[in-house]
Amino acid sequence: MSPPGRVWITGASSGIGRAVALRYARDGAAVAASARSAAALATLAAEPAAGARIRPYPVDVADRSAVRATAARIEAELGPIELAVLNAGSHEPVDARRFDAAVFDRLFGVNLGGTVNGLDAVLPRMVERRAGHVAIVASVAGYGGLPTAAAYGATKAALINLAEALKFDLDPVGVRISLVNPGFVRTPLTDRNPFHMPALMEVDDAADALVRGLAGGGFEVSFPHRFTWAMKLINLLPYRLYFPLVKRITRA
Ligand SMILES: NC(=O)c1ccc[n+]([C@@H]2O[C@H](COP(=O)([O-])OP(=O)(O)OC[C@H]3O[C@@H](n4cnc5c(N)ncnc54)[C@H](OP(=O)(O)O)[C@@H]3O)[C@@H](O)[C@H]2O)c1
Repeated sequence: MSPPGRVWITGASSGIGRAVALRYARDGAAVAASARSAAALATLAAEPAAGARIRPYPVDVADRSAVRATAARIEAELGPIELAVLNAGSHEPVDARRFDAAVFDRLFGVNLGGTVNGLDAVLPRMVERRAGHVAIVASVAGYGGLPTAAAYGATKAALINLAEALKFDLDPVGVRISLVNPGFVRTPLTDRNPFHMPALMEVDDAADALVRGLAGGGFEVSFPHRFTWAMKLINLLPYRLYFPLVKRITRA
């Protein structure tokens, strides 16, 4: 598969999105980088490794009309988006003993609503062109419930289901959809996790795995492999085995 020439990445101001933006820029793509923090995006665009190929497009993914306007501006300035990596996301731990619905509102608004807004902005254009590739960044936390992840995991489970469902409609019109399920990657997001993170990956390795995975033909891109496959298998177990095993692995 030939590498994409024009890439839009949301959540590009830090962590996985930032590393993926630099990786695509180094590979010669024109990269549109979005997040709320204009200052962090400007710093990214000025990185020598970006070779002046990253342009900042600050936007809050929860704002649907702003996301639509951003995609339109990117296409007017850079040309048709060939690959959209819908990666913006946030995490807040949930303690069910101090249940707070506001956390769910926030995470559903960004992780799920923000991704839906990204799809709303790019899909009509790609469907019309009968070309394009969208990558939805979910998580292994969407495979099954994990400690403190009631809100985060629910958004990621929803994204997995959403990506699977979209594939049926998009395949026949030539628009490719990929599902990205990372394991644990060291970023500002996971720095907040109070539990042990097995098989923790460095962000540049995760970006390499993501870009390599999207260049392949499969639907799901998950990494690190051994851990994500173990999580898949654990989620097939009966619950009487699932709960004690997850408790042991996460040392919850
Ligand atoms: N790290 C992991 O172990 C891991 C594992 C599985 C999945 N993931 C997923 O990978 C994605 C990236 O996570 P990360 O670990 O790289 O976290 P991160 O370093 O915290 O990056 C999150 C990115 O999302 C952006 N963002 C957050 N809210 C936004 C909003 N309302 N509008 C626009 N951008 C917004 C942030 O930028 P601003 O704050 O500037 O807006 C930032 O660029 C997330 O979807 C996360 O759920 C991460």
